[in-house]
Amino acid sequence: MSDCHRICVLPGDGIGPEVVAAALDVLRAVQAKSDVRFEFCEAPIGGVAIDEYGVALPENTLRIARGCDAVILGAVGGPKWDTVQPGCPRPEDGLLGIRKELGLFANLRPVRVYAPIASHSPLKASIIQNADILIVRELTGGLYFGEHATHAEVEGAGIGGGRGARAHDVMLYSEFEIERIGRQAFEAARMRKGKLTSVDKANVLDTGQLWRKVIHELAREYPDVELVDMLVDNCAMQIIRDPSQFDVIVTENTFGDILSDEASVLAGSLGLLASASLGQDNALFEPCHGSAPDIAGKNIANPIGQIQSAAMMLEYSFGMADAARSIGDAVDGALAEGWRTFDIASEETPASLILGTREMGERIAERI
Ligand code: IPM
Ligand code: MN
Repeated sequence: MSDCHRICVLPGDGIGPEVVAAALDVLRAVQAKSDVRFEFCEAPIGGVAIDEYGVALPENTLRIARGCDAVILGAVGGPKWDTVQPGCPRPEDGLLGIRKELGLFANLRPVRVYAPIASHSPLKASIIQNADILIVRELTGGLYFGEHATHAEVEGAGIGGGRGARAHDVMLYSEFEIERIGRQAFEAARMRKGKLTSVDKANVLDTGQLWRKVIHELAREYPDVELVDMLVDNCAMQIIRDPSQFDVIVTENTFGDILSDEASVLAGSLGLLASASLGQDNALFEPCHGSAPDIAGKNIANPIGQIQSAAMMLEYSFGMADAARSIGDAVDGALAEGWRTFDIASEETPASLILGTREMGERIAERI
């Protein structure tokens, strides 16, 4: 009897369906070379779900996701749904909703440099050459999930003063939430180079002070891990000034969102970045890029971030570390052979080496 893994597939909007299709091609190649079986169950999320069902995360999608062993997600959002009135469903509600509903509190975003395209980064080779960072982003708390409200203009406005409407978003963290993500990060650091940089804004925010206190208490359990505190503004600078000082970075939701986009510049393209969102009982794998509506439907998006997310699924959800490595090697091999998507091509890249989404997926799949 071969192992069967049920995978919920949520292609979503924009380039989501194209890059997801490429990742499934690669998973089928893995399946052909092993005795495991993958069963794919597709469901709508984001804008396509709003169009079809009026909500970004239909009940049925959530039910399928809960019933599967892992979830693969493409991207959500697009200009078509950007102008909706406050209170109307937005594609992003689907993504935030599934993260919350499945309890996916830990978002792991590895950032590495692919040697054959290192020159594609706008940063000097000498700066990025040893960069290898794992960003551990808290994913179900903070500003994203605190109370949001917009207040109509009132006479003699209170906090903030001045004229016009006001809005607020609450940033809330409990010790439990900080400890839970902290533990994940210390464990990850222990498996890597043993260094953890904890990023906060403890010089201004109460949440930052609580963050620092909890992380330091936790550090006593991990004497083998070197802990460094860093303020988020400084971290934003250090990531592009000297990225090799980092091993694992742990930070709250909003800071992690911002720093991971920034760190993608080390790799050369946001299209290369993968992620795993892990919870107690569920796991979801999605690239860090968005739906890129400007290039959607053209078969030119870079599928590598999605393909590497599928590799993370094999490793984290199915214990298939060797298969995950074979995907990583296949990506390295395709890049070493010179194949590029347009986002990682340079002026010197011959047109014959620039591939579409599907073709890049095939080049990688055939190397498995
Ligand atoms: C990401 C994305 C999402 C986020 C958006 C689409 C809501 O930017 O996964 O980084 O902010 O978390
Ligand atoms: Mn983001």
